Amino acid sequence: MFARRVMVVGTGYVGLTTGACLASLGHEVVCADIDEAKVDRLRRGVVDIVEPGLSELVVEQTSAGRLSFVVGAATALGAFEDARPAEVLFLCVPTPMGAGGVADLRAVESVMEEVGASLAPGTVVVNKSTVPVGTAERTAEMLERSDIGVVSNPEFLREGSAVKDFLGPDRIVVGSDNQDAAERVAALYARLGAPTVLTDAASAELMKYAANCFLAMKLSYVNAMAELCERVGADIGDVTEGIGYDRRIGQAFLSPGPGWGGSCLPKDTHALLQVADAADFEFRLLRATIDTNTRQRQRIVDKVRLAVTGKRTGSLSRVRLCLLGLTFKAGTDDLRDSPALAIAALLRQAGADLVGFDPALTDGLDGAPAPTEVEGVPLAPDAVTAAQGAEATIVLTEWPVFRTVDWAAMAGAMKRPIVVDTRNLVDPATLRRAGITAVGLGRRGDG
Ligand code: UGA
Repeated sequence: MFARRVMVVGTGYVGLTTGACLASLGHEVVCADIDEAKVDRLRRGVVDIVEPGLSELVVEQTSAGRLSFVVGAATALGAFEDARPAEVLFLCVPTPMGAGGVADLRAVESVMEEVGASLAPGTVVVNKSTVPVGTAERTAEMLERSDIGVVSNPEFLREGSAVKDFLGPDRIVVGSDNQDAAERVAALYARLGAPTVLTDAASAELMKYAANCFLAMKLSYVNAMAELCERVGADIGDVTEGIGYDRRIGQAFLSPGPGWGGSCLPKDTHALLQVADAADFEFRLLRATIDTNTRQRQRIVDKVRLAVTGKRTGSLSRVRLCLLGLTFKAGTDDLRDSPALAIAALLRQAGADLVGFDPALTDGLDGAPAPTEVEGVPLAPDAVTAAQGAEATIVLTEWPVFRTVDWAAMAGAMKRPIVVDTRNLVDPATLRRAGITAVGLGRRGDG
């Protein structure tokens, strides 16, 4: 006997994780996607994204008969055991940033047009995608049905640990103006025993932005602090360790880097600025958070320039550089809004010749050949090949394997042994032992 019949529309990393994890909690889950080839792959247990534990969970739950995949939301409606109706519909469709930084809701609208009229009375429609404040209200208007509850239930999953985050959440947030619908959604997660915030839809929608923008602000603060450390001769590692022991600050999310990226933080910071603008509120703190991040990319380029040429205004024209890591962070193959790629673009504009290596880009999808380049950056099959003839290596993604790269071999391959480590990942002593000049962020001597 299944706990609840749940339909999930959209099998991106949020939808697929939600579907597989809800199935593992005992619910009967049917996931729908418009991409036929993707549905076919998922039925065979082939997951397109690098997400630890996800493909195993998909295979396990599919074999257990709790999880299935169909093409199109309308098909999903009729795909439950004994042709019984779905009780809860999760919307996990893309909400990309549209013109002027406003999230584009066409995918949500199209699902509502496709199945809204066919939902059984009492079905709950849940917005899982990050959406502007007011979307639950708009979804309810699109539905034009008083017998369907609309709930906002934002996710707080991180790419690279989505399954773990889903099954061990810090909190569950459920917002609706329909109390009964909200409680039914909260009950889906009851087995997880997480603190649950039951609120109105607008607060739940805002909470998602508030969390991501706070995280972005924390990182911009740390990156600015790292720069200040360089100027005053302090060490960012010691400073963040020291402040992190204060439980009100916490140790997490305090590593300086090439700037924050990915499919969420950049999109959500801009979207919240729009929300603020529309409410006639000048959110200066958030604007400064974004500006600091944009500046961080240029700051990395300036560091490379200084390290390679010895001058702040030196030329990078025809300088060969090795880039280690192109994904927006470690543990994922996601390249969306990757700071590494933004920095690569700036370096290319400055005339540099780039060769990259990323451990997540060495195999193609479902047996396809590995990519040979990303956004104009040619890819090498390993770090040492990428470093051949380079005048510096730049560590851009915090892949743990970079710590244990054969740095002596790297030094031998490079024309000049310089490493600019934008993640303070590799032990500078290891680099120095290999005869490499190590430059990091905000460490003593990094200025
Ligand atoms: C982020 C949030 O962390 C999740 O809680 C949220 O659910 C998700 O967005 C979303 O809205 O879906 P994610 O985009 O997977 O998750 O990435 P993060 O782990 O937050 O990293 C964001 C960026 O900050 C990356 O570029 C990362 O390299 C950078 N970062 C992170 C640092 O530079 N330093 C750190 O200490 C941590």
